[in-house]
Amino acid sequence: MIQYNESNMLFHLQGPTYSYLLGVKNDVLMQYYWGGRLPSDAVEGLLELRGEAASFDTAHSRHPLVVPTQEKGYFGQRALCVVNPEGDDVLSLRYQGYRILSGKKPLCGLPASYVENETEADTLEIDLKDELTGVAVTLSFTVFHAYDVLARSMQVKNEGDKPFKLTDVQSAMRLPADKYEIIHLKGAWARERQARRVALGEGTYAIKSRRGASGHENNPFMAIVKPHTTEDQGDVYAMTHVYSGSFSAGVDVGIDNEPTMMIGMCSDVFNWDMAPGAVFQSPEALFVYAPDGLNGLSHRMHPFVRQRICRGKWRDLPRPILVNNWEATYFGFNYDKLIAIAKRGAEIGCELFVLDDGWFGKRDSDNCSLGDWVVNEGKLDGGIKRIAESINELAMQFGLWFEPEMVSPDSDLYRAHPDWCLHVDGRDRTECRNQLILDMSRKEVQDYIIEIVSGVLRSAPISYVKWDMNRNMAEGFSCMLPAQQRMETQHRYMLGLYRVLEEITSAFPEVLFESCSGGGGRFDCGMLYYMPQTWTSDDTDARERTRIQYGTSLIYPCSAMGAHVSAVPNHQTGRIASFQTRCDVAMGGNFGFELDLSKQTEEDLATAKKAVEMVKKLRTVMQQGEYTRLLNPFENEGRAAWQFTRENTVIVCVYVDHQQPNPQPHRVKLAGLDPEAVYTDAENGISASGAALMNLGLIMPSYGGDFATKVYVFEKK
Ligand code: DGJ
Repeated sequence: MIQYNESNMLFHLQGPTYSYLLGVKNDVLMQYYWGGRLPSDAVEGLLELRGEAASFDTAHSRHPLVVPTQEKGYFGQRALCVVNPEGDDVLSLRYQGYRILSGKKPLCGLPASYVENETEADTLEIDLKDELTGVAVTLSFTVFHAYDVLARSMQVKNEGDKPFKLTDVQSAMRLPADKYEIIHLKGAWARERQARRVALGEGTYAIKSRRGASGHENNPFMAIVKPHTTEDQGDVYAMTHVYSGSFSAGVDVGIDNEPTMMIGMCSDVFNWDMAPGAVFQSPEALFVYAPDGLNGLSHRMHPFVRQRICRGKWRDLPRPILVNNWEATYFGFNYDKLIAIAKRGAEIGCELFVLDDGWFGKRDSDNCSLGDWVVNEGKLDGGIKRIAESINELAMQFGLWFEPEMVSPDSDLYRAHPDWCLHVDGRDRTECRNQLILDMSRKEVQDYIIEIVSGVLRSAPISYVKWDMNRNMAEGFSCMLPAQQRMETQHRYMLGLYRVLEEITSAFPEVLFESCSGGGGRFDCGMLYYMPQTWTSDDTDARERTRIQYGTSLIYPCSAMGAHVSAVPNHQTGRIASFQTRCDVAMGGNFGFELDLSKQTEEDLATAKKAVEMVKKLRTVMQQGEYTRLLNPFENEGRAAWQFTRENTVIVCVYVDHQQPNPQPHRVKLAGLDPEAVYTDAENGISASGAALMNLGLIMPSYGGDFATKVYVFEKK
């Protein structure tokens, strides 16, 4: 609900459990409050005080501006920066008016949260303008009635008669003055989204990516929490970006101790020419306030990402159990080898076979052929059609890997169009994994990709696409843009990519698309808008995955995370975990296999078959139920536990990192059960009340080697 009180010019945005209050004071738009839901009335006397204190002529005050700029007496971090025609950067945005609309408009050319009908959300649009330059801003805030997420974006327009440059665009929110800690997701290839927690001091703490992708190193997510916040209690203020390119996210604490958190473009690699009449649409930012800890955050974000970011036929469907040949064969496959793996997959109940990298051009290693999306008949006699049909005959769907945004210098595409890659004339074209990046800001490049990928998808029964992207931008510039616009390249690349993804995914609505970027290097809400699942990490080691999946689950739902059982010794760590453990941990996401099933022992195949049966029976609970973290593997000596709950079914997986002799029993307490009801796990012979399971808890395995797991499936009576 959005209310406007004309007498005090106050906007009150009320989600199911949060309130956000904005007001106009001396023509300036200020934030008064963000936190737990307030009643619709009875706040006036409380706000007046705050408004007076923020008298706008106090030259040294840090006003709670909704769009902080270089402005009279404001010295905090800015959310909107421009370079005016005269070379200064002063921007005095003054209130012009507002609209309250039913529903939510799409963002032009960008992914964003959406509504299915107009009654499920309200949007407040507020216009601001700097009279001297004509810099005009329309802010947009959407409140969903059934989801506890505030969606926010801004349009900047040049309503003046001279050009200006936009150099930074952020979405900023104020927090109450208090002590806080910061949680963010740090990583690297094969070590994505490791949860980090640091104290918030006085000053600025920021993370960013200027890689041209959200990246392995920092996920576009930050939570500011009260000290002592746990999974189940404590105030959490969190933000994420519905965008897949470079970004920055940070928090700034100034003299009044009120932190401002903001997320938006990465100004290192962004500026935008604003000719008279030009309009710039910012990416959307999502903000969540949770009074009930980190699970409270996840319980708000997961259904929202699943249902109001992800789209398409596969959004609500059970995800197929797949077998992927990458770690089984790498580039060394032929038709017979693939069929042997697929046959075993079919025998244990897999539903989809995915042919990974190496099927096109003359690609036998990573040093050639990206861009030449024509099957290598030498390797795959009969082409994609034959292998796809053979897989279908095994009663499995067929899926195919692409890396469409890339080009190998050794490719026909590069020989024909050496200028189609991002580069800077006169400088080296830095290769990474022997490849360059196509200039997706160019329409002809976008059209080529749409055409060539669509052609392959039309040529054979292909039901799934893995869309990979294996490097970041070094000389990330388009030679087609004039010098003063070169810094627009990265964002134009994203707009081009989003156009390509929109065209291809809507032309093939039956196909399940999974995004990937050297594992989880582009795991963000922007990609999830086009593709409802992402390959979480190239690290499939079960122990590492407990951490990677823990961090990822802070904001992203399990239905978005690819999780596969791979061979041991693990290819990334050399570690050996049992087949059972690998299966149990992979059940924390979209389950599949990534190993040569034709070489596994009968015993392991039997374990695999049982796991497949279990996933088929329970995947609605795993993919659409509520996911609750019970034990954090970054603490607790590596012990981890998580719970899925849907209707009367409760699944719990516990993981013990290393066994200690003669241990104290470690227990894990379940969450969110009905204390009075009885829950029964017939297989493990447990029947206990919800109260007992939540207070006394289950005993963790205390014998059975390192990396031991156990899965419990309870039914409520
Ligand atoms: C990186 C991906 O994460 C892997 O799963 C695999 O598809 C390779 N690329 C193929 O080059």
